[in-house]
Amino acid sequence: MCGIVGYIGSEKAAPKLIDGLKKLEYRGYDSAGIAVLDGGVLRLEKRCGMVSELEYAACLSGNAGIGHTRWATHGVPSQANAHPHACGKFALVHNGIIENYGDLREELESEGRVFLSDTDSEAVVQLIDKYYEGDFLRAVKRAVERLSGSFAIVVLCADFPHEIVCARRRSPLVVGRGKKGAYIASDIPAAAESAEEIYVLSDGEFAVVSDREVAFYDGDLRRKTKKKAEYDRQKDIVALNGYRHFMRKEIDEIPLSVRNSLLKIAENNEYRNIYEVLCLTEQIQIVACGTAYHSGLAAKYAIEALARVPVEVCVASEYRYRNPVVKRGTLVIAVSQSGETADTIAAAELAKKLGAALLAVTNVPYSSLTTVADYVLFTVAGREIAVAATKSYNAQLASLYSIALALAKIRRQRAGKKTLFALPNLCKKVLPSVEAVRGWTPHFVGAESVYFIGRGVDYAAALEGSLKLKEISYIPSEGYPAGELKHGTLALVRENTPVVAIVTQRRLVEKTMNAVNEVYSRGAKVFLITCFPEICGRKEVFSSVLIPKCREAFSPVLSVVPLQALSYYTALARGNDPDKPRNLAKSVTVE
Ligand code: G6P
Repeated sequence: MCGIVGYIGSEKAAPKLIDGLKKLEYRGYDSAGIAVLDGGVLRLEKRCGMVSELEYAACLSGNAGIGHTRWATHGVPSQANAHPHACGKFALVHNGIIENYGDLREELESEGRVFLSDTDSEAVVQLIDKYYEGDFLRAVKRAVERLSGSFAIVVLCADFPHEIVCARRRSPLVVGRGKKGAYIASDIPAAAESAEEIYVLSDGEFAVVSDREVAFYDGDLRRKTKKKAEYDRQKDIVALNGYRHFMRKEIDEIPLSVRNSLLKIAENNEYRNIYEVLCLTEQIQIVACGTAYHSGLAAKYAIEALARVPVEVCVASEYRYRNPVVKRGTLVIAVSQSGETADTIAAAELAKKLGAALLAVTNVPYSSLTTVADYVLFTVAGREIAVAATKSYNAQLASLYSIALALAKIRRQRAGKKTLFALPNLCKKVLPSVEAVRGWTPHFVGAESVYFIGRGVDYAAALEGSLKLKEISYIPSEGYPAGELKHGTLALVRENTPVVAIVTQRRLVEKTMNAVNEVYSRGAKVFLITCFPEICGRKEVFSSVLIPKCREAFSPVLSVVPLQALSYYTALARGNDPDKPRNLAKSVTVE
């Protein structure tokens, strides 16, 4: 989703901006642009497509500038709609959605102003220009007061060649200071390479960034001091290290992510406050989006099986607009790799308002979700660059299973600690399945549609397998409860339709194999992922991959691995870039 960068300092801004935009490419975007201030003159360059298309602009001179990768929301991807947007002496980049932009645009147009784009963002720069009476910061503040919705904005003004003004409400923005100037970005790693100090802007704050200092202001423009963020640059260095794609590398990092994310919550004083809230927990609601939602679904089975605590799993964008029932003893767990997903944050805020205790499970320190939550558990997957989540799913499961274990202990249920802490090793053992499914891709590459079936935890894994395939191979696919097939989806199964069946629960083997027989009888090619070798050779199974056995409640952490790999290799075979799927973004910071 939209990415913002800025630089002001002793060096040329343009190459730094382009470099910064490259670091944000992983978020997903469809156009890019920069603006630099050169001797009091604003110069803008923007392009549809990749940041590489913009490299020619690195020759622009000027020591202050802003840049943007745009993921279209209002207005098609086009050069006119790409950021920065300019008006009068101002250039602006924006991440977020201005909900009242229609009214603002009408008002501004009725005053004779002309818009050059279809974006909501242009209304902001027009407003700043309207309110400008010689005080840059005040003009930004007055404009911001008129906005509803979410934004991180960064603004240049031709009258102030030594300043960049930033403001934030609900969209991420960080400022870094280094020897050669100040750096602004949507996430810490993009700002941190040359910065020695990093500051994370909070909601409602403004920052005036100059080559010599960074000044922070509250909503009333009172100067405030801010604590530096703790950040270990070394830990965050990401490189392909010989891999062709981040997604493939991140699959191989699953065992480590799981190992690092498993916690002994009940036994470690560091998690005392979380343990205490778990002691008071009567029911759980998990809110999340995308893959994080699927990890919630898979974890529900484990929490209910191990601890007998009822769990409801809700898509965050639905939760936030229904009237959820939050009773005494409700713990809401907001799961988000990035900690910046707008819907998840909004759902979390609502839950808190309704009186729930709010626990965030996220992979990103200082993310917006951490500031909303009462309690935070960090997954330790390391940075995930590929848009399609892999290792973060497994890490989320490890965290959520750790919660299940603590709850089981509190409720004096048989906990299964040993089986949980065996998972990292089993994750290593499941890695050969990554190459094993490679041979399946010729049967998937030309498929019109693919179905993933399973029961219970296997159904949860099927949903994630289907999402992965959809995201990066663009093949229509569906994850379905095996027992529900005959109520509709079976009508779509034809000769050679690939169906992936996941079977990891002993008592449900024959039940799921019934469904396998149903699709096989209608011509489907059945691909089996199972931990039971005895069913691999059945005639209805076209090909199978054997995964290690583990406690059934935990099996998605293993069974998902060949599914992730299947989507990766199918995407490759179709000529797609698995790391950067079309239309999708890594961090969905708008609604
Ligand atoms: C986007 C990403 C997915 C991710 C989802 C939720 O759709 O492409 O990979 O699962 O957002 O993201 P979060 O950061 O909240 O886990």
